Amino acid sequence: MAKKVLITDTILRDAHQSQAATRMTMDQMLPALDALDEIGYYSLEAWGGATFDSCLRFLNEDPWERLKTLKSHLKNTPIQMLLRGQNLLGYKHYSDDVVEKFVEYSIKNGVKVIRVFDALNDVRNLETAMKAIKKYGGICEATICYTTSPVHTNEYFVKLAKELEDKGADNICIKDMANLLLPYTAYELVSAMKKVLKPETKIHLHTHNTTGTGDMVNLKAVEAGCDIVDTALSALGNGTANPATEAFVATLAGTEYDTGIDLTKLVPITNHFKGVATELEKSGSLNPNVRKVDVNTLIYQVPGGMLSNLMNQLKQQGKLDKLDEVLAEVPNVRKDCGYPPLVTPSSQIVGTQAVLNVISGERYKMVTKEFKGLLKGEYGKLPAEPDAEVVKKVVGDDKIITCRPADLIEPEYEKYKAEIAEYYTKEEDVLSYALFNEVAINYFKWRLANKKAVDKDLADGKDNVYPV
Ligand code: CO
Repeated sequence: MAKKVLITDTILRDAHQSQAATRMTMDQMLPALDALDEIGYYSLEAWGGATFDSCLRFLNEDPWERLKTLKSHLKNTPIQMLLRGQNLLGYKHYSDDVVEKFVEYSIKNGVKVIRVFDALNDVRNLETAMKAIKKYGGICEATICYTTSPVHTNEYFVKLAKELEDKGADNICIKDMANLLLPYTAYELVSAMKKVLKPETKIHLHTHNTTGTGDMVNLKAVEAGCDIVDTALSALGNGTANPATEAFVATLAGTEYDTGIDLTKLVPITNHFKGVATELEKSGSLNPNVRKVDVNTLIYQVPGGMLSNLMNQLKQQGKLDKLDEVLAEVPNVRKDCGYPPLVTPSSQIVGTQAVLNVISGERYKMVTKEFKGLLKGEYGKLPAEPDAEVVKKVVGDDKIITCRPADLIEPEYEKYKAEIAEYYTKEEDVLSYALFNEVAINYFKWRLANKKAVDKDLADGKDNVYPV
């Protein structure tokens, strides 16, 4: 079954989100865009995830302007983005009108492939975004968040994949954000999915190389028929980021899976990004330790980022000696709340609760608002039934939400629009504000002050020295 394997390069999004706190600027990307466009990638992941927040909060960039600039250079290669279902790129559930508008303007400004996921794999939290992606002509890549638990069997994931395909997904992404997927499991999972999905539905694998297994996972998945694989150019690839592009292209070259990508064309682009990586390291955004193999996830079954959070929480309270107890408590808490995948925000919710259970000396004597919310259904349906006793103790007489959380939210787009009337320049501003509130307002203020300064300079006959 000779077939070309397609590659998505994440150098413009996940690579620097994983290694350098999402701090790559538009100026650092620009010199490489035309060359990237000539490589023949399936797509370039370049927007969404944390890039939107980072643009507004740290880089004084309008994320929508970044997208337009990207699109003006990437004429052949589809731009891909990452979207967290009904949360969009923010941290709460949004009303359907905001979700639909966000998808509409993302596609209008240049995004083609939208990878949409929900932290709990609750399909209801994906439906509005999926419908909007199809309506506005995007490629709908619906996602399975991979995790391990007694309920997260291959059968569970295959059923989920089929359900997403039935709801209109063009591609199915297996998102292994925590690098928990192992090579032979990947082989079995992709093989099982291929049996039930339509031949035209592409499987797109996303893993990281934190634990050092990433390249092997990608290779075994390809052998099982995986169509598209995420890699990142080696300048910012590997470690906590995705496996390196060049190594994978070279591995498949001349085989039945040949990517068709010319390795020598990648060299000047990688050299450019090596320079960017050095700049990011100098500015303190990139700590070279992120490139080392960290096997803790393989041993403790908790994502690397979660483990360091747990250690920090315990250290602050002078209880680092309780780490083993907390690590033993994490799977118990996870079981009690119906085995959520450990990804933002559930990883923090479960981790903090495990810490509280251990240091307070009594399980669920102290609970966070978020843990209670998780049990109440505020984030969506949990993968398995939570423990009835724990629910009784934590939730008490409060009402449990069984509907889709966004069903309880009235349309809110017009309200957001009215709130930013004094800063409004375009519809996209409303979406920036809906997602990041005061962070967006601060950016709008900076933009306004900057514009006034430029207008004054122009009036004074000076050159425009401000980057607008
Ligand atoms: Co990732």
